[in-house]
Amino acid sequence: MSKTITLNQPLDMHIHFRDDDMLKLVAPLTAKTFAGALIMPNLVPPITTKEALMSYKKRIKEAQGFEDFEAFVTIFFQADYSYEFLADIKDEIIGIKLYPAGVTTNSETGVSSMDIKALSPTLESMSKLGIPLCVHGETNGFVMDREKEFMPIYESIASAFPDLTIIMEHITTKAAVDLLDKYPNLYASITLQHLIITLDDVAGGMLKPHLFCKPIAKRPEDRDALLKIAVEGHPKVMFGSDSAPHPKHKKEACGCAAGVFTAPIALQMLVQIFEENNALDNLDKFLSLNAQRIYKFKAIDKTITLVKKDYVVPSLYEAFSQKVVPMFADETIHWSLEQ
Ligand code: NCD
Ligand code: ZN
Repeated sequence: MSKTITLNQPLDMHIHFRDDDMLKLVAPLTAKTFAGALIMPNLVPPITTKEALMSYKKRIKEAQGFEDFEAFVTIFFQADYSYEFLADIKDEIIGIKLYPAGVTTNSETGVSSMDIKALSPTLESMSKLGIPLCVHGETNGFVMDREKEFMPIYESIASAFPDLTIIMEHITTKAAVDLLDKYPNLYASITLQHLIITLDDVAGGMLKPHLFCKPIAKRPEDRDALLKIAVEGHPKVMFGSDSAPHPKHKKEACGCAAGVFTAPIALQMLVQIFEENNALDNLDKFLSLNAQRIYKFKAIDKTITLVKKDYVVPSLYEAFSQKVVPMFADETIHWSLEQ
């Protein structure tokens, strides 16, 4: 008999579902295995109105393909949202995502200045209304230093708004790990790829476009710091895959789009990593319990069983004339979904 593990209410607290045909391709791959996911708002144009939000929610519901899955949606941060607008949509969203302008895919209309004074009107309302702030924490500096350089900005927001729940999204550095416990209102999400790879895997040998994402994977000591807090089930971190599908031709191109597509292999690989680190007992904290406590919600009852059995990851996911290459395409991983 192969070894099995049953996961309770797995959650992916940072994912890109996109829209139209790509949404139809990728949403069921997450909805099949996860109980819920936090969907990013960086569509073109980004979600900034109630109409756009409600209609995106509907399109997700139509595309997800499995009933036992909850999509938690977000809107795209604007510095001048009115209190009335936020109060009106509060119950429809789980958080608001802040992108500094131009730092990643579809962030051109993000905030042009991270000056706390400029951001204050929206942040103040969010703090009063209890809406969490999700942040893409990178500056426009040198690529390896962008996250580290953002730490003072996290510090200024966390201290100016002590009642605001702040999530440092997809952290990639020891600097972010070290900041986590300094402020009670600071939390973090960690992706699958940043628990595994370093810059060497992306660009140390042949260039690997399917491992290229923002923030870029960093040094071994950074990866090790992330892995440590994930496998110990640190109460302030949660899983957010940042699974970010781009069409194959946009990844395998001169000018490669940033984003790693991990949705269909995320659970299998998390089990593999936690098993390798003798930490399977902590997986439910990283994958579900911490997120429910941090975002203050109760996930739907859903369990998913995995089997310790080798699985060759498909080279391509293809449907609705969309083609996306997953992380570990054509490679063998050691856990599979129970059939
Ligand atoms: C994301 C995307 O493609 O939307 N890309 C990425 O490299 N992670 C945006 C993001 O989360 O930065
Ligand atoms: Zn993302």
